[in-house]
Amino acid sequence: MHVGILTGGGDCPGLNAVIRAVTKRFYRDHDARLLGIRKGWQGMMYGSAEELTLQKVSGILPKGGTILGTSRTNPRREPGGIERIEANFREWALDGLIAVGGEDTLGVAADLAGRGLPVVGVPKTIDNDLSGTDVTFGFDTAVNIATEAIDRLHTTAEAHDRVIVVEVMGRHTGWIAVSAGIAGGADMILIPEKPFDIEEVCDVIRKRHSKGKDFSIVVVAEGARFDAGKESVLVTASGDRDAFGHVQLGGIGHVVAAEIERRTGYETRVSVLGHIQRGGTPTAFDRILATRFGVAAMESVLRGEFGRMVALRGNRIEAVSLDEATGQLKTVDEDLYNIAQVFFG
Ligand code: F6P
Repeated sequence: MHVGILTGGGDCPGLNAVIRAVTKRFYRDHDARLLGIRKGWQGMMYGSAEELTLQKVSGILPKGGTILGTSRTNPRREPGGIERIEANFREWALDGLIAVGGEDTLGVAADLAGRGLPVVGVPKTIDNDLSGTDVTFGFDTAVNIATEAIDRLHTTAEAHDRVIVVEVMGRHTGWIAVSAGIAGGADMILIPEKPFDIEEVCDVIRKRHSKGKDFSIVVVAEGARFDAGKESVLVTASGDRDAFGHVQLGGIGHVVAAEIERRTGYETRVSVLGHIQRGGTPTAFDRILATRFGVAAMESVLRGEFGRMVALRGNRIEAVSLDEATGQLKTVDEDLYNIAQVFFG
């Protein structure tokens, strides 16, 4: 039996834990070939792969990044891209492929499954915005890193009587912002799902300061938008789009901080956490979840069950169709946001 595995999209703590689990589960019962495809769909298109051995996955469980490399290559945008992938399936005689990725990587996986190719998905993203699973691996690590940063920013904000705006990742959804904001005791949280009026944000801070507090922490997701009537305005770092049509986000923290200082007169600073949230070792929670996903994905391949994504539902690992998982994004739970709001101001 020949099986392949690839990791695509932005990297995420826990990718190596999945690769290790897939490899160990495979070689427990099989002597055949497990192929590690290099750099996501790019390797699948251009035939770049290496054999994965038990030796190669030794010691990688706690490591960040991915030993297979990753890319945002979109085969649907490359001439003949999908056909090349089909040809490499045949060339490598793959009986199954495990694609570890977020909405973009798994969107391609869903298309391939629709064409009859034997694909299984594993949900990865620090943003936690994939449907079908209660949580994606990588998210817990990102929330822990952001929470620690907020704790640290709290003490310096308090010492200097400042407002500090913390920009966290979250392209389409505010899961990291809301979760780390609640855990870190943020005074205001701005997320993509709730376009905001900057004057209302300033009012909340003014009220807080009029009640005797001289400092505030505002957490803003990079994809949060200014409310401008029917339109909402996104702040981008660059207008260039990647192969999946996404602009590079970043900069909202600086814009919000400048507006708060200008409107309230409170000294304001900004801290952009960026890729620190994605790098480094996964938490124990993410290592365990990634390991469970990896074992379940390989078992799905061994049973010949394809076109599915492994998912966490309650405390059980189940499978959902790739179409269901990639059909729409999972936005922040309204109840969770309402809880966060109790602590605004
Ligand atoms: O993985 C998703 C994400 O973390 C988004 O929140 C963010 O917009 C994006 O990755 C940035 O990734 P990169 O800088 O690698 O393009």
